Amino acid sequence: MELDTGRAHVARVYDYWLGGKDNFEADRAYGDELERRVPAIRVAARMNRLFLGRAVRYLAGEAGVRQFLDIGTGLPTAGNTHQVAQAVAPSSRVVYVDNDPLVLTHARALLTSSPEGRTAYIDADVREPASILEELPATLDLEQPVAVLLVAVLHLVRADEVAYPAISAIVGALPPGSYLAITHATGDFWPASQVAAANATNRAHGVDFRFRERGEVARFFDGMEIVEPGIVPVAEWRPDGGPAADRTDANIWAAVARMP
Ligand SMILES: C[S@@+](CC[C@H](N)C(=O)[O-])C[C@H]1O[C@@H](n2cnc3c(N)ncnc32)[C@H](O)[C@@H]1O
Repeated sequence: MELDTGRAHVARVYDYWLGGKDNFEADRAYGDELERRVPAIRVAARMNRLFLGRAVRYLAGEAGVRQFLDIGTGLPTAGNTHQVAQAVAPSSRVVYVDNDPLVLTHARALLTSSPEGRTAYIDADVREPASILEELPATLDLEQPVAVLLVAVLHLVRADEVAYPAISAIVGALPPGSYLAITHATGDFWPASQVAAANATNRAHGVDFRFRERGEVARFFDGMEIVEPGIVPVAEWRPDGGPAADRTDANIWAAVARMP
């Protein structure tokens, strides 16, 4: 992907909603327009980011996972995956993957591992899983469980015929006891008119986006054991009483599953 400041890039729009500074006029224009149509969008972005922290703490803690593959990393912000995981288990290894050129230029901030652990960054596209899988053994031991994080990225893979096989290929390369964590935007909680308005804004700004229903999100977990509390609105996934954990107006499904 080319660095294009004249068109909205989701990594930068998300950074804008989270209060970051790595964004341009086109990102802010799209971000503001979508917020007019979806007033809870900033809350949704924040709830999504808080889920990432809770899921990684669960995976590194209770689930005992020591290796993470974070696809669709986003621009570095507070509480990056390796910081959360290594605070629980300093030996945690994290591979980050994103296809946005600005994320690549900021990747150094993601490579600040604890001495006991490791981090790596792959400039790759989730739609081409082979390009990710061939780089993994340099950092991860694929005989040991890996937690794959696809947090707020799969709704940016519009084509089902690309999205499902890509995730199957990644999951198929990992050993039993690995985990998959997903958040995904949905129109399930909204009237059809609001879904249509959000879709129109995304189309107008050239953002390749697709809401999926709960059943479509469940399909990504086919054959896996979804851990409690199941596929739930993002703020309801193992709330820890942290900031705004009571906000349930985010239009995002969240779940974590274990590969048998
Ligand atoms: C909304 S951000 C989410 C960031 C982070 N996962 C989080 O939830 O806090 C989505 C990220 O996915 C990346 N992304 C979008 N399409 C992608 C693709 N096809 N392959 C890899 N990364 C992609 C974007 O560049 C962006 O950084």
